[in-house]
Amino acid sequence: MRIGILGTGTLAAALGEGWIRAGHEVWIGGRSQVKADELAERLGRLGPLGRPERPGRLGQGAFAVTPREAATGRDAVLLAVSWDGVGDMLALAGAADGVLVGTPLIDPTNAVAHGVGDLLTERGESMAMRIAGLAPGAHVVKAFHLFPAGLWTSPADDGRPRATVAMCGDDPAALRIVGELVSDVGGAPATLGSLDRVRQLEEVAGFVIGLAFAGVDPNSAVPKVS
Ligand SMILES: NC(=O)c1ccc[n+]([C@@H]2O[C@H](COP(=O)([O-])OP(=O)(O)OC[C@H]3O[C@@H](n4cnc5c(N)ncnc54)[C@H](OP(=O)(O)O)[C@@H]3O)[C@@H](O)[C@H]2O)c1
Repeated sequence: MRIGILGTGTLAAALGEGWIRAGHEVWIGGRSQVKADELAERLGRLGPLGRPERPGRLGQGAFAVTPREAATGRDAVLLAVSWDGVGDMLALAGAADGVLVGTPLIDPTNAVAHGVGDLLTERGESMAMRIAGLAPGAHVVKAFHLFPAGLWTSPADDGRPRATVAMCGDDPAALRIVGELVSDVGGAPATLGSLDRVRQLEEVAGFVIGLAFAGVDPNSAVPKVS
């Protein structure tokens, strides 16, 4: 696939690496062209299956472009920016002009108070629905928000999924494509439901963070269901 990545930080780098190792192309756009260039150059050295390849813009599978180019005509786009940068980045990408119409738009954001876990969105609001409003016609899929970025960079030794990635989205085709991208980095996709339920997924991040910072293993706070 040709995947657009909006953002040049930790998650952009990790998923970009995982997808390049799986043989996809990534088109990276950040508000800093320098950072996009640096990330594309670094990822471009990996090439398919992690082989060293020619670096950079003309390299193997990773291209630094403008945010608008990263978002245009892609099989899927990852919105890998801080929750409070979402509006700015979608504006840079031209979302309001319809650039993302029909495109699976992956929302991994966490609008969660660090160390506390409170959601910073308005009561009843969700980041995914906010993003859907800012990117009319995009097929928003919430995914990849719960696990640390580093999980997705190296193939599992035993071939078993590293984690289940719970997703919400309204468009079945977009959920299928994002599910493939989850599998390609070693996760197991699972659809919870449509965007009507996405706040439940976003609350889980707050639940995990709140307990973890209270010194409790969040895994011990949910029942094991066989
Ligand atoms: N890291 C993880 O383990 C992880 C796991 C799951 C989900 N997430 C979520 O993924 C998203 C990205 O996380 P991250 O760890 O990659 O963060 P990060 O390393 O801090 O990178 C944040 C990115 O957002 C960009 N950005 C911030 N404000 C912006 C604005 N106003 N306009 C345009 N771009 C802006 C930054 O650009 P500059 O570099 O130019 O500042 C940078 O590219 C967050 O919403 C986070 O909650 C992260």
